[in-house]
Amino acid sequence: MGENETIRTIKNRRAIRDYDTSKEVPDDLVYKVIEAGGFAPSAENQQPWRIIVVKDKKLQEFIGQKAVDRTIELFGRATPREELERRLSYIESKASRERTIDILISGARFEYIKGKPETNGAPVLLVLAVDQTHVGNSQATLRGTGGVYGWSSPRHAVIAGSMMMQNMALAASALGLGSCVSSVQLDHFDDVGEISEKINIPYPHWVPILCLTLGYALNERTLGPPRQGPEEITFVNKWGKPFKGGKE
Ligand SMILES: Cc1cc2nc3c(=O)[nH]c(=O)nc-3n(C[C@H](O)[C@H](O)[C@H](O)COP(=O)(O)O)c2cc1C
Repeated sequence: MGENETIRTIKNRRAIRDYDTSKEVPDDLVYKVIEAGGFAPSAENQQPWRIIVVKDKKLQEFIGQKAVDRTIELFGRATPREELERRLSYIESKASRERTIDILISGARFEYIKGKPETNGAPVLLVLAVDQTHVGNSQATLRGTGGVYGWSSPRHAVIAGSMMMQNMALAASALGLGSCVSSVQLDHFDDVGEISEKINIPYPHWVPILCLTLGYALNERTLGPPRQGPEEITFVNKWGKPFKGGKE
């Protein structure tokens, strides 16, 4: 039996970091991607999200440079080379693996966020911000406290925002667009503040948590990092006994 189309879309989506910049992404496609994003679930259907569609090259450059700087810090300085070798061991060709490591430690791998045609950058950059004062109606009096009963509502906004992001990445894939979720430029508090200021996000009430680049893929990308199977990540009833999915 052939695989269901939705599951095929889910499994075939890849992070795309090289874009064909000769092809514009029409606004109506961007609209469809965001519309699909908005169909994600959210706690009490509060929809605690906003998207900023960034096409201005100077703004893309600013945000992309943050990603490059942090990548140099993270992969170039803080992560030992053996660890990068281990993570990328799924790339069989030694030369391609070395090339991938080189562009990681130099930050070049994240140049695509800047959207420059000469480096096959993404034509469109979406910035997703979530409402950090997002609370359910039942907790109206606990606004901003995190909840005296231990509820952590800002966390719900991040969870819902992440689900929205995944919807957008899948919708992009279904519409023939390449995309890549990225957060490295938003990992550091200073960057979150500076990026918010640059694009008028009312931070810290609203907080940018993730970006999504959009564009047409330069090359079809089928090989991705391997995934663990359900039997490796699932237990039955209690942590410990593996779930075999009827394969025992
Ligand atoms: C929360 C999150 C943060 C990520 N941050 C970055 C990032 O900063 N830069 C980037 O190029 N890719 C980023 N990615 C993409 C992952 O590297 C990619 O999805 C993962 O390696 C699996 O590859 P695949 O999407 O092709 O299957 C991020 C993905 C997620 C979900």
